[in-house]
Amino acid sequence: MKKIVVTGGLGYIGSHTVVALQNTGFEVVVIDNLSNSSLDVLGGITNITGQAPAFERLDLRNKADVTEFFKTHNDLDGVIHFAASKAVGESVENPLLYYENNLNTLVYLLQECKAHSINNIIFSSSCTVYGEPDSLPITETAPVKKAMSPYGNTKQISEEILNDVCSISEIKAIALRYFNPIGAHKSAEIGELPIGVPQNLVPFITQTAAGIREQLSVFGDDYDTPDGSCIRDYIHVVDLAKAHVIAMQRLLNNKNNTNFELFNIGTGAGSSVFEIINTFEAVTGKNLNYKVVDRRPGDVTAVYADTQKAHEVLGWKAEKSLEEALASAWKWEQKVRSKKVI
Ligand code: NAD
Ligand code: WQD
Repeated sequence: MKKIVVTGGLGYIGSHTVVALQNTGFEVVVIDNLSNSSLDVLGGITNITGQAPAFERLDLRNKADVTEFFKTHNDLDGVIHFAASKAVGESVENPLLYYENNLNTLVYLLQECKAHSINNIIFSSSCTVYGEPDSLPITETAPVKKAMSPYGNTKQISEEILNDVCSISEIKAIALRYFNPIGAHKSAEIGELPIGVPQNLVPFITQTAAGIREQLSVFGDDYDTPDGSCIRDYIHVVDLAKAHVIAMQRLLNNKNNTNFELFNIGTGAGSSVFEIINTFEAVTGKNLNYKVVDRRPGDVTAVYADTQKAHEVLGWKAEKSLEEALASAWKWEQKVRSKKVI
């Protein structure tokens, strides 16, 4: 049985990936410092898969602890690296936190992977590296634009670090550029747990529908799109999680074409903010209180993926619908409120 360490494995995407790995027959060790997650997530994962993953509470910024971890766990086959800070606005306020948490941690992990010949790495990148794209849908060959935030910059630099390391060592890495992950596991045992006021659209919608937020602000209806609101590629987190399993299998089976590969992970379809609101209302029967306000600084007009490479090369394709994703997000919101997890 192959053994994979999942950093940030109690977070939103990490926890769904741990479930997908366990259900595929991998043994999993989770690292998390609980800075943006809770120990309850371990229980959620265990309820779904029937097995508790091994867990190490560890801060990857602490190099000595990272070294110690890899000394103790000397039978690892691969690393899936989710742990990072991800709030774009906060990264503008506190860039050093982001450079430390998103870059130092990657460097420490790679040093240990090199030292212990753990040669299979999956990295969480983001469509943010494309900035405002020149054409749509976005292919992996589109230029990486000057980052619009320190957060975005950490993803660009991380990809460069991986590329450099892979070109001179045995290490093989796949960076998955996620578009907009939404939704939750159908059991509602795990899901997204935003701390404080959500910055992302779907958690803000579900909290508004649940009465926690009074009103959703729609950031602009004067964009050059059919209904004037911005367009994004919303991908069900369960589909996204599967992509990690497939990518890891590709590396373990030496099926990769080069030592560093990049894939867009999205649905290939764009949805506007109004389409998301209307679909949410249709699948939940809830009326959403919303108001159009000014544009949010830094938002790009439209972003959606060309997913041909992921389909043809990786053999992965999004399977779940927007309706399923929004229904699962709503189910999770109701469950989490009743359990008072946050
Ligand atoms: P999340 O915050 O839910 O999960 C990250 C997890 O990492 C958390 O459990 C947190 O406690 C842990 N963590 C953070 N710093 C750590 C450290 N120093 N040591 C140990 N654990 C640490 O975020 P997510 O939405 O699951 O995102 C996972 C990854 O995907 C991140 O790298 C993020 O940048 C990337 N990503 C996310 C999105 C998105 O919209 N959610 C989009 C594109 C890329
Ligand atoms: C989606 C759309 C908003 C909230 C961010 C990061 C990106 C990536 C994914 C990590 C936009 C609109 C939102 C609200 C709204 N993360 N909106 N009212 O901005 O596409 O991407 O998360 O890598 O790097 O920037 O996602 O969910 O914030 O916004 O109208 O209250 O919803 O303007 O058009 P975004 P989002």
